Parts: sequence; C-alpha cells; structure tokens
Amino acid sequence: MLEAIILAAGKGTRMRSNLPKVMHKLAGRPLLQHVIDTALQLPLERMHLVLGHGAELIQRQIKHERLQVVLQAEQLGTGHAVMQALPGLDDHATVLILYGDVPLISAVTLQALLQLAYPGSLALLTVNLPDPNGYGRILRDASGQVEAIIEQKDASAPQLAITEVNTGILAVSAAFLREYLPCLRNDNAQQEYYLTDLIGLARKAGLTIHTLETPNLYEVQGINTHQQQAELERLYQQLQARTLMEAGLTLMDPLRFDCRGQLSMGADCVVDINCIFEGTVSLGNNVSVGPNCLIKNAVIADDVEILANTVIEDAVVGKGCHLGPFARIRPGSHFAEGVRVGNFVETKKAVVGPGSKINHLSYAGDTTIGANVNIGAGTITCNYDGVNKHQTWIEDDVFVGSNTALVAPVTIGSGATIAAGSTITQNVESSQLAVARQRQRNLDGWKRPKK
Ligand code: UD1
Ligand code: CA
Repeated sequence: MLEAIILAAGKGTRMRSNLPKVMHKLAGRPLLQHVIDTALQLPLERMHLVLGHGAELIQRQIKHERLQVVLQAEQLGTGHAVMQALPGLDDHATVLILYGDVPLISAVTLQALLQLAYPGSLALLTVNLPDPNGYGRILRDASGQVEAIIEQKDASAPQLAITEVNTGILAVSAAFLREYLPCLRNDNAQQEYYLTDLIGLARKAGLTIHTLETPNLYEVQGINTHQQQAELERLYQQLQARTLMEAGLTLMDPLRFDCRGQLSMGADCVVDINCIFEGTVSLGNNVSVGPNCLIKNAVIADDVEILANTVIEDAVVGKGCHLGPFARIRPGSHFAEGVRVGNFVETKKAVVGPGSKINHLSYAGDTTIGANVNIGAGTITCNYDGVNKHQTWIEDDVFVGSNTALVAPVTIGSGATIAAGSTITQNVESSQLAVARQRQRNLDGWKRPKK
C-alpha cells in the first residue's frame, strides 16, 4: 500500500510574491498541481499535503478526494514537516516523499524508485550535478554504501566537493518514519529538523539504502526564483514540442511554441510561430495555424485554415473553415463545414451553418445563422439592450448588406435580402427585401459655405 507526502509549507521568499510559491504556474498549471497529477498516476491510497504559508488559498484551489491536508504552523524543517503527516499514515504503508516546488518529476522515475523501497530498505533519488551548490551531499563509505546526507551549510570543504546530491525525493516504510522521525534533532547550522538526517539513522538501524540516480536534471529541479521558473518553463515547452513533432506535427519553430494544456492533432498539421494553446485543443488532419494565434479549449476539424493573429476560445470549428487573420472566436461559437470568418470579426454564441461567410468587421453574438448566408462588412447583431441578451435568427441563403444593425430579438427569413445600411428592428419574411434607411436626396446647385 502506497501513500505520498507532498511538502509545500514553505513561503518561497525569493519569489517576492504574495502568492504561495507552489501556486505559481508552469505551463499554465500551478507547480503543486503538476506534482499531484503525476502522483495520481501511481497506485496511491492517499496523498498528504503539508501546508503552511498560504494554506487557505491553496486548499481552495487544489482539491482531490485522495488529498488530505496537514498543517505545519511553523516551518521547522523538512523532517518536522513530514512528522506532521505521521498521524494520518497507515502502519503498513510505503511512503513516498515529494516536493510541491519540484514540478517535473515523472511517474516513470517514481515507479523505478518505488521498486527499491521494499521492507527493510530506503530508496533515495539522487542526481549528479556539476555544480552541487546549495544541495545536500550524499556521503558514501569505502564500499560505496550510503552513510548519510550532509547539508551544504553543515558540510566540510572535502564534502562540498561531492557532486552526487540529494533530490529530497525518497520512499520508505511508514513504520520506519514513525520510529525514527522523533529522533531527529535540530542541532545544525539552520537549527532545523532535517529530513535528510533520516538517512544516517536508517543506516544505523540496519536498513539497506538504495539510490536511484536520475539522468534527467529537469525532473528534480526545484523552483525558488522566477529565473528558475522561466528556465523550467522553456525546457518543458521544448519537451512538449519534441513529443508533438514526433507525433507528426510541423512546428515552424519549436522554440517559439507554448502549450499550456493538452494539444492533440491528426496528420499534416502545421503551426507557425508564437502560437499558444491552452486547455484542451484538438486539431483534425491538415490544419494550419498561422503565427500569433491563441487557441483555448477548441475542437478544430480537418482542413481548417487559421490565419495570423486569430483568437479562438471554447469553440467548435467544422471541416474546411477559414478563419482570420485577426478573427476573435469567443465561447459558444459553433461553425459548420466551410464557414469563413474574416478579419476583425468577433463571434460569440454564434451557431453558423455550412458555407456561410462573415468576412469583415462584424459582430455576431447570440445568433443562429443558417447555411450559405452572406453577412456584409460592418454588420452588428445588437444583442444587448443594457439589461438582457437577445437572440438573432438568420435563416438559410440570407444576404445581409454592409453596415447593417440587426436589433435582437429578430428573425430574418430564408432567402431574404437586407439592404446595406439598414437598421432592422422587425422580422423579415422569407425572400423579402428589407430596406430600413432614409432615402437618398440629391440637391442641385449646392453652394459650399465660405470662410
Ligand atoms: C532540501 C534538502 C537537501 C536537498 C534539497 C533538494 C533537507 C534538510 N534538505 O534542501 O538535502 O538537496 O532539498 O532540493 O531536507 N518545507 C516544509 N516545511 C518546512 C521546511 C520545508 O514544508 O519546515 C518544504 C518547502 O516548502 C519545500 C521543501 O520542503 O517545498 C524543501 O525545503 P527547502 O527549505 O527548500 O529545502 P532545501 O534547503 O532546498
Ligand atoms: Ca529548496
């Protein structure tokens, strides 16, 4: 039986932020959420989350039925933090210790570590760093067995030269933690109860200490500063880009690509530079996305062409649609096959039938548009009366002339034509021509005013 303890009580002073450190984001998700999502890939019975600074805010935003929050009122060290979780542990559990600010640890690595954590052993994840500064060093005896961990601030000059360091991540039995955590003392440079002292105690207690050295430095990199946050973000984006390219995506420049969620795609999709994908986005086959697009929670069908600077959110885009450049497709937009939405067009809760076009400078909100409709430039659905939103229905084969205001609620019957410059306040029957503007007057002999 497996349980995890995630340490996240620290303040994160170096972030210089009012937000608790573990709530800062990497690829659009809080650091802590990354750790929890990874832990959930393991066969865990429970997770114990040790919180201190910003505990209330974190609890409001991060919830899971297998998550139990433990409060550490004062941050007296990592050993003290783990001790707070002791009462909630099952006696027979193996306990995995994770860190809320080490977001990219992988389930594969943790599984390998857990293989080494059987009764009578302690499994410790280590890493070899050319610059081990700041980390606890792994001390080994002449036969290569781990003897202890020494913290940077307590280490001697020869010990400081050791490059094998502690990642902090370890797995051991709950029974061992129960017995030995109370033995920790804080007579060290930082006057903290170090979890790392447990290694020396384990050795003395006759446990076998297994180490697993991860070659992936990013997996054990912690975030303490915005610098480190930005570095890990870029690294993560490159890893994602590589995976997507391996799956067949053409990225014009993987260094200028950001996915802050889940992106999936069919064959032969091309994404130009500086695009951001958020939430869950799926692209069909042969979709092209121009530069500088932001696409969030969208389903895009085959053969869609999205031109530069288009923003799409919570939308469904049918086969062969053509969007942008500079289109803004807001939530609830649902386009059938072959729809064209052009530059400086905004749509919201707009259900648009096959082959319809809104090519320039228009607003289509709270509207249902049929098939093969042409909406002229500068058409506005006046959906809001200052209090309520109203619906506009435009049936099949309607032609709306340029610069038309459609004052909702209103229905335009199939095949009707609206003259340019009309303000439509009444329903138009099928096949009628509606002209709702002043007649033009041309006056002869007009004299311009003189200075
Ligand atoms: C710790 C390890 C060090 C290791 C390094 C890896 C100890 C004593 N040292 O050092 O060997 O190389 O991590 O990154 O464990 N926390 C609490 N409550 C506390 C103290 C800390 O919840 O009272 C949490 C922090 O929020 C943080 C984590 O534990 O998420 C690590 O604490 P931190 O003080 O950053 O430890 P390091 O000095 O980095
Ligand atoms: Ca740290």
